[in-house]
Amino acid sequence: MLPEISRSMLKNAIVLGLFAIATVGVVAAIQQGTAPRIAAAEREAQVQALAQILPAGSYDNHLLDNSRLVQDELLGNRNPAPAYLATLGGQPSAVILQVTAPDGYSGSIKLLVGILADGRLAGVRALHHRETPGLGDKIELAKSRWILGFDGKSLIQPDEAGWAVKKDGGQFDQFAGATITPRAVVKAVHKALQYFDKHKAELLAPEASHG
Ligand SMILES: Cc1cc2nc3c(=O)[nH]c(=O)nc-3n(C[C@H](O)[C@H](O)[C@H](O)COP(=O)(O)O)c2cc1C
Repeated sequence: MLPEISRSMLKNAIVLGLFAIATVGVVAAIQQGTAPRIAAAEREAQVQALAQILPAGSYDNHLLDNSRLVQDELLGNRNPAPAYLATLGGQPSAVILQVTAPDGYSGSIKLLVGILADGRLAGVRALHHRETPGLGDKIELAKSRWILGFDGKSLIQPDEAGWAVKKDGGQFDQFAGATITPRAVVKAVHKALQYFDKHKAELLAPEASHG
């Protein structure tokens, strides 16, 4: 026979244990219920970002179903990241690469870089960054049109020296009081073009691409 105090402690422990089990169960159930909705929302955001980069009518396939994971020093990503292949009438028309500029003012900047089959940039968008509002965040299209300055540029137009901000002798504007962020983005986009140039045969091969 347990003394009164021990019985009370045991009862409390059992109640606490049951409560913990119930809580974990509820959290797990909520997570299970919301996971598909979060995945669907992320997929939708991704589709919209990709669609912004490629001109309407330049592709007729589902980009998310035509991606494969790629990894290269020139892309700056820590982990393999998707390369999306756009096709029009079955012919490859563009590739969208996910790249990372590691040297932003406040850490890495994730970008989507769209490159047409002929090597010209279709467009660039900032996917994720922690740059300072009012300074480095002008890389977002919502804040400024600066990122549109990449449209139509290629490895040869401008030449090697032109692929820098004006302060460093290149062709791209920096922001007033903020050179670090645009410098990092220009460098990353230039490297993405170099990666495309080296690997375009594989990147544009329809059979290399799967869902
Ligand atoms: C609080 C604070 C936040 C800043 N944020 C940014 C930023 O997000 N991006 C950036 O390029 N520079 C930022 N700067 C300015 C940089 O420190 C640097 O002075 C500027 O980029 C000019 O670089 P440069 O000397 O190489 O031309 C910030 C400065 C301060 C004090």
